[in-house]
Amino acid sequence: MSGDVIELPDVGLGTYRNTDPRECTETVRTALELGYRHVDTAEGYHNEEYVGDGLAAAEIPRDEVVVATKVSADNLAYDDVHEHARASAERLGVDAIDLLYVHWPLGAYDPEDTLRAFDELRDEGLIRHVGLSNFTPDLLDEARERLDAPIAAHQVEMHPLLQQEDLVAYAREHDHALVAYSPIARGKVFDVPALQRIAEKHDATPAQVSLAWLAGKEGVVAVPKATGDHLAENLAAADLELDPEDVADVEAIDREERVVDIARAPWNR
Ligand SMILES: NC(=O)c1ccc[n+]([C@@H]2O[C@H](COP(=O)([O-])OP(=O)(O)OC[C@H]3O[C@@H](n4cnc5c(N)ncnc54)[C@H](OP(=O)(O)O)[C@@H]3O)[C@@H](O)[C@H]2O)c1
Repeated sequence: MSGDVIELPDVGLGTYRNTDPRECTETVRTALELGYRHVDTAEGYHNEEYVGDGLAAAEIPRDEVVVATKVSADNLAYDDVHEHARASAERLGVDAIDLLYVHWPLGAYDPEDTLRAFDELRDEGLIRHVGLSNFTPDLLDEARERLDAPIAAHQVEMHPLLQQEDLVAYAREHDHALVAYSPIARGKVFDVPALQRIAEKHDATPAQVSLAWLAGKEGVVAVPKATGDHLAENLAAADLELDPEDVADVEAIDREERVVDIARAPWNR
């Protein structure tokens, strides 16, 4: 993993709300041993230390794993970005963070100051790639103008109930990865008849169908949060090949339904 392009596997591991020290450490260790190579956290998830412990316990070569974290909206002032990125790296127990995101373009986010700090962190080698999360196309345009670094990834909510065609098209046009968060809509995909039908046809689950649909989209990867048996189930979804008619049926579902509260989001004002 070097240079400007980040390689992300189809299915990574989300860790939001995995805050129990033992469970989080064990989940990350197990996930890495099962074959996960992308772990997504955030300073705001209050588990970076446990994610780091899991990473250390798994004994997977460090350069094979993408460790991603995020700076919270309130900590995006220039000096704070430097300070908080360093603190995240320390908690994670890594010399460099592979992918550091602006978590939300809110709070102390200032395109010039925030992104200057991100560029500097990359020049110093504390972070390898710059990511943005919860941006709109206009805010992405503005960020691209300010940043020297390329945007490696844009992370947004995406699943069969929220298909994000415009942001997928934007990501392809500007050559960054689209990382789908809440990719199984926090379980809501289990209630969708079309997904139940496709799952039955492939002897799979609606979660796997959702992840396979995301994985099948060029430039899109997913970070489902999982524990226990769900870890292997979700990883196996990357090998599930949907038929063209299945893809058409998933794409007919779109209901613009979000699971993450975006009351403060820039496109909602
Ligand atoms: N950038 C942002 O603003 C942002 C916002 C939200 C999320 N995220 C990231 O995206 C990750 C995923 O999103 P999310 O946690 O909101 O939602 P999600 O991944 O769509 O759903 C997680 C929930 O689904 C369950 N689950 C996972 N796999 C399953 C399976 N195969 N069958 C049945 N249930 C399953 C999990 O339970 P178990 O734990 O019991 O497996 C958990 O309760 C987060 O953890 C975080 O890393 C980022």
